[in-house]
This record gives sequence, C-alpha cells and structure tokens, in this order.
Amino acid sequence: MKVLVIGRGGREHAIAWKIAQSALVEQVFVAPGNDGIGQQFTTVPIDEKDNAALVKWSKENAIGLVIIGPEAALQNGLADELTQHGIPVFGPTKAATQIEASKEFAKELMKKYHIATAEFATFSDYDSAKKYLDEKGAPIVIKYDGLAAGKGVVVAMTKEEADEALKDMLLDAKFGEGKVVMEEYLEGPEFSLLTLVNGRQVVPLVIAQDHKRAFDGDKGPNTGGMGAYSPVPIIPQSAIDKAVEEIMKPVAAAMVEEGKPFCGVLYGGLMLTKDGPKVIEFNARFGDPETEVVLPKIKSDLLQHILDVLNNKETKVEFEEDTFLGVVLSSKGYPGSYPKGLPINGLEKVKQLVFHMGTALKDGQWVTAGGRVLFVVGRGRTIQEAQRDAYAGVHQIQSDALFYRNDIGHQAIEN
Ligand code: AMP
Ligand code: GLY
Repeated sequence: MKVLVIGRGGREHAIAWKIAQSALVEQVFVAPGNDGIGQQFTTVPIDEKDNAALVKWSKENAIGLVIIGPEAALQNGLADELTQHGIPVFGPTKAATQIEASKEFAKELMKKYHIATAEFATFSDYDSAKKYLDEKGAPIVIKYDGLAAGKGVVVAMTKEEADEALKDMLLDAKFGEGKVVMEEYLEGPEFSLLTLVNGRQVVPLVIAQDHKRAFDGDKGPNTGGMGAYSPVPIIPQSAIDKAVEEIMKPVAAAMVEEGKPFCGVLYGGLMLTKDGPKVIEFNARFGDPETEVVLPKIKSDLLQHILDVLNNKETKVEFEEDTFLGVVLSSKGYPGSYPKGLPINGLEKVKQLVFHMGTALKDGQWVTAGGRVLFVVGRGRTIQEAQRDAYAGVHQIQSDALFYRNDIGHQAIEN
C-alpha cells in the first residue's frame, strides 16, 4: 500500500518513519514535508491546505491511505474531501475536529456527558467576564476560544493577571474576534493520552508527558511543546485505565451521539488531580512532540493498527519496554518571532533518532526553517538513561541559532 502523510513537522516525520516499518507499506510520501523528511521519504510539494490538489495527487498515485497530521488541514475539511472521493483517510471530519478547534464545544460536550473537567463559563463580552472573575477570584484560567497555537491560554495566579488577559482577548481582540472560556484552576501532573479512534472504538496508546513552557523549571511562555517522554511513571496505570474508561471511551461515544463520529487520533490532554484524571483539552490529532516519543514506543505495526481501527476490528498494540525521551531544539526567540536560515552543524554526528521539525538544506548546509527545528530522541531502560542518551545527541549539534531545555523528564526524575 502507498501511504501519504500530510504535514511538515517532527510529528509527520515520526509518523512516516513508523509507517515505513510496516510490512504492508510499499512507499511513504509526505506532503509537503520538509528537507529533513525529504532525506528519507519522497516529499510532495503540495500545501497541506490545498484540498483539491491533495485529492487529485492521491488519486493519480493510487494512495491507499492518507494520514493527516496538522489541525489546520483537518479544520480545512481535508478528511471530508478525501472521503467524498473514495480515498481512505485516518483523520477526523471538519465537524469532529471541533472537539479541538472550539473550546466551548468541547466543554459543553463534557458537561452534557458528565466527563470530568474543570468547571467553566463562556463569555463574549468583557463586562460579564469581569463580573464572573470578581465572583470566582484567582487562581483562574482564561482561554481564547479558537486555534491560537497554544498561546491563547493564561493561567492567572492573580485577579490582575486575569483581568489583563480578559482585556487582551475581549477588548483588544489580540487573537481576533472571539469568546473566552474561564475555567476553574486545577492542580496535578499532566499527561497526554493518544488514542486511535473510529466511532465508539478506542485503542489507547502509551501515555507521554509534554513540556509546554519554553525554559527550564517550567518557566517562560507556553510553546507548542519543548520535549516529551514516554511512559510517564508518575501516573499510575489505574489512573490511565480510569481515563480510558471514564473519559476517552465516553467522549468517543458522545461524538457518535452528537452526529459527529470521530475517526483518527483523539488526544486527551489530562491532569491527574486529587479527584482523579480530568480533561484540560482534547486535540483531534497526533500530539507534537508526544508522537515523536510515543511512536518509537510502539513495537507492533502502526499501519496494521490504523487499518484495523478503520475496519472496526480489534487490534492489539504492543510496546517496547524502554523509555523514550526527546528534546526539542528551537530557534532563539520562539515562541515569539525568530530569524530563519541560520546554520546548524554536527547533525551527521548524532547517533540518536532525529526527527526534523523545521529544517532546510541550503547548498548542502542544514539551516533553521521554523520555530521548533529538531527533535532528538534518547532511549534507555530508565528515564535517567533515556535522558542521558537524548542529551548526548543534542550536544553534538552546534548552532548559535538554537536553544533547548536541559531538564526534559524532570517531573519523573525528581519524584
Ligand atoms: P491548553 O491549551 O488548554 O492545553 O492549556 C495549556 C496549559 O495551560 C495546559 O497544559 C496546562 O498546563 C494549563 N492549564 C489549562 N487549563 C488549566 C486548568 N483548568 N487548570 C490549571 N492549568 C491549566
Ligand atoms: N504537544 C501538545 C500538542 O500537540 O498540542
């Protein structure tokens, strides 16, 4: 079978890498991919939002399965269009993508189906939001209702901070016109649970933990994620089982009930509170960078699992015993603005698994081409070993343009 992966980051590199290991696969293509991905796979120069061109190319090249990475493509209805043209796809419809794209939709769904999440209220005008803030006080969490690349969330420890966020979002429309969701502040370790879903069928993968803040010690601004590891020993199996039974399965069933059946990766961003696991957010896709450590953990054939799930057949995922831990190398300035096209050296010396998040090759020289640039994956019997292995790889890379966190895995190592 020929498989087309849609997207251009480290997540798509990891998906292509894992799918290529399948005995069922003839060739893996990535559209549009990046130069790093292009070293290993055939990249197709079509933008992930050009539905018509992707449909046409898939038909002409007899693609047997399309796997969609980025939310923007899902939100743009790519899965719907591929399905209309009879091309098998793993990725939700535009309607089902709402579970990620609209925080209000996700929160209302959880309320209706009694799925554990923070108490909340939604506002579109500043005065009523401010009134709610005065009632509830701080700490409180303020979220812009829409895709804001992980930057639309303010965890306000004081009322002043919360008020400022409300003003930014509702009076100054910093992310565009929209609503805000105000949420009860929850506490506990966070984890990401990726599941393969088709309708009511839910196949959990092993959990991972992301590191959302830019700097060591979980300081600095929120990013798309600066590193991840899997499994997460601080989260007991009983909590994971509870999250599958009481969160992921009921929400998949709820989407069927609502006439928006979900097909693809349903990602639970969860927090283990003192009252058990609760939902922070859902994503309608593989997480990035979680995917880059979760897929190496899978020992069995991911393509077979996806095909089984598409046919609503039972499928048993097997995992490696080892821990995988990965570090993101980002452009200095990220998540704010940053220059591109700056040199990266030493990549050829890295023995560890490397996924390219945003690189380009210019006249034989690797250069930066994005905010998150490279992902180096370490492997070990323990998390400490995996961490040492990952940083040994990271230290081979020389670039004045890049920074990374030195403490990926710290929550598991300190505990
Ligand atoms: P989100 O984009 O919804 O995943 O939020 C980004 C980050 O903000 C999460 O990973 C949490 O660390 C934090 N956060 C979001 N919602 C809450 C909440 N209700 N209580 C505490 N922290 C939260
Ligand atoms: N790593 C968080 C996300 O993919 O949204």
